[in-house]
Amino acid sequence: MTTDHPSFPIPLRSDAAVQRGAALRFFMDGEPVEAFAGESVAAALMAAGRRTLRHSPRDGAPRGAFCLMGSCQECLVWIGTRKQPSCQVAVAAGLEVESLPWREARA
Ligand code: FES
Repeated sequence: MTTDHPSFPIPLRSDAAVQRGAALRFFMDGEPVEAFAGESVAAALMAAGRRTLRHSPRDGAPRGAFCLMGSCQECLVWIGTRKQPSCQVAVAAGLEVESLPWREARA
């Protein structure tokens, strides 16, 4: 899993007084990611230390989740045959998510 942010590994998932959904595993660029039911894909990836989901087509700068409410489109990922904002998609066991550069490199 990518740990490409200077703040890593600050724990982003608080464990005190939090009731979580069932533990599950999905896949990001073929690598397993542990998550909990009810989390968005973006939240689970951030908690796992994955910050970069794509790169700017203009200058190649890394891009990742920003607004976390579906407005900015910075968190686009491939899920199945569609690009979707990862902050608007709930995790599911076995879900296969691909970052834009990872899928494009495989094509
Ligand atoms: S973080 Fe802005 S649309 Fe997902």
